[in-house]
Amino acid sequence: MSENQTVMPRALLVPVKGILLPDHIAKDLDAVSAFCPHPSDILIAAFPKSGSTWTAEIVDQLLHNGDVESCRRAPITVRTAFLEASNRLRTKSGLHQLKEMAPPRVIKTHLPIQMVPVGFWEKKCKTIYVARNAKDTVVSFYHFHHMNLASPEPGPWESFVHKFMHGELAWGYWHDHVKGFWEEQEKRDILYLFYEDMKENPRREVERIMKYLDLSLSDDDIGHIVELTTFKNMKENPMTNFSFFPPEIYNQSISKFMRKGEVGDWKNHFTPEQSAAFDEDYEKKMKQANIPFKTEL
Ligand code: A3P
Repeated sequence: MSENQTVMPRALLVPVKGILLPDHIAKDLDAVSAFCPHPSDILIAAFPKSGSTWTAEIVDQLLHNGDVESCRRAPITVRTAFLEASNRLRTKSGLHQLKEMAPPRVIKTHLPIQMVPVGFWEKKCKTIYVARNAKDTVVSFYHFHHMNLASPEPGPWESFVHKFMHGELAWGYWHDHVKGFWEEQEKRDILYLFYEDMKENPRREVERIMKYLDLSLSDDDIGHIVELTTFKNMKENPMTNFSFFPPEIYNQSISKFMRKGEVGDWKNHFTPEQSAAFDEDYEKKMKQANIPFKTEL
């Protein structure tokens, strides 16, 4: 960052219907709730740091037949809209951006299911949810808080994990987020993906997304998409690695947006005691839901 660049004040969290949200997002939430999508719009929902950028890139690629040029035509934040984004971090808010895009639009949200604008369900928009195991999510979120200078202060790792367990980070409880979409997946025809499955067998998961979107691409085109959306290629692609994002907001000298892209990095962060306490709390909150998360491959 150069000396004359202004420092972005960190966001405060405010409760909205029991969910903590960054203040600049909370203030426009009524307008977001009233958003009326087109039936062809595609919603990608996820708790932060669960692989939403990866999924958005795959969906955009599928809509463009895996053409190399298409994924380099504009930054991922321009090709796909972040529904509840305010114009504090971007030149345009998500709603502003959506007005200028033609359907079918790829729309990302971190909102929990009860806050997703009702129009998405009324219009029966295709909805993809991507979930990532809690331990890798909290690690990724922690590093993200360090590099995203507009996010709330992360504080020490120990207290960050505590906040994650108690729904005190932005977008509330991870547990309720993943359960909310899991329980509604059949009723609302949601495609529920796991980050770990995408790592384990990306081709299988790209094909699942393709079929869910009623698309039919050739084997070669599917192969191109799998290749273009590997962690390595997305990290090198200036249209997906957030090098286009202002460094006074995302300071990638602290931590890269495309940081590690692995399953099991939590083992490098949790002490055995932290891991045991986390597991005990997890068991209480997640036992009934029985969602098949993997914490290693
Ligand atoms: P890490 O911090 O663990 O590396 P989101 O896009 O929802 O904010 O999620 C970001 C996380 O997804 C980061 O995790 C990022 O590296 C990872 N990610 C992004 N693209 C990926 C890809 N193609 N393959 C694997 N992981 C990817």
